Amino acid sequence: MLLQDKVCVITGAASLRSIGYATAELFAEHGAKVVVVDVLMDEPVLAGIRTAIETRLQRRVTLHGLQCDISQPEACEAMVREVRALHGTVDCLVNSAGIVRSLPLLEISPQELDRMLDVNLKGTFYLCQSVLKVFVEQRAGTIVNVASLAAQRGGGLVGGPHYAASKGGVLSLTRSIAREFGALGIRANAICPAMIDTPMLDGLSPERLQGIVDSILLKRIGSTRELAGACLFLASELSGFVTGATIDVNGGTHIH
Ligand SMILES: NC(=O)c1ccc[n+]([C@@H]2O[C@H](COP(=O)([O-])OP(=O)(O)OC[C@H]3O[C@@H](n4cnc5c(N)ncnc54)[C@H](O)[C@@H]3O)[C@@H](O)[C@H]2O)c1
Repeated sequence: MLLQDKVCVITGAASLRSIGYATAELFAEHGAKVVVVDVLMDEPVLAGIRTAIETRLQRRVTLHGLQCDISQPEACEAMVREVRALHGTVDCLVNSAGIVRSLPLLEISPQELDRMLDVNLKGTFYLCQSVLKVFVEQRAGTIVNVASLAAQRGGGLVGGPHYAASKGGVLSLTRSIAREFGALGIRANAICPAMIDTPMLDGLSPERLQGIVDSILLKRIGSTRELAGACLFLASELSGFVTGATIDVNGGTHIH
């Protein structure tokens, strides 16, 4: 049990196929009190998540679901307030909510750019700000930000340049948080996934998917459970001396 009784907020968990869900499941397995957050969260979605986790673990888990549009700073503040009302504290935030769009640079409208940055970068920023106020008070806390390979190699296998730029911002933000709050014992790290089997890959044609798989050293796409494993490492004391780091979970697609 690596996260016994730790209050962990995980965004982007509405779909049972998402990285956020797999992380919620693995954290619950390790004893965490999990709060799943998504713009699409409601009672039926939460009930589906609870059933899936409790069926897998064969026991009851401490699980709450909160609806929140992370692009709205007041909504992020209200969500963190609600978590504190439920549990008295927050120990860990995993920012996995995000959107992806594939467009050539010259076709990206100001509205498209705003939406991408509002959710992926500013949403992550607002949530970090909201939990950091709590972390500073308690002089402890960990943040795990899910960025993307797109941030590292300039453009994604799936996302366009606005997506890559938004995730590049997430990497810089993560390092800045690690630098500013490290002296208080607060850690922040990022993960750069690529080709994880989630709804984000649904738009790829079978031929395009096969072409990408051929270029992955491990010759397969990754599972959400494998990405969740990296989140567990960064959220737990296993990574107690790790901050400001970026962990690649990409099957060897990008070695640098
Ligand atoms: N799947 C991959 O191969 C891959 C690769 C690189 C990066 N990522 C990143 O991983 C993260 C998780 O994505 P996923 O693959 O699980 O896909 P996903 O689409 O299942 O999960 C994203 C979730 O974010 C939620 N969301 C979108 N906008 C939101 C908002 N404004 N407020 C709150 N929630 C919002 C969606 O409702 C969805 O449930 C994303 O940040 C994505 O950019 C995924």
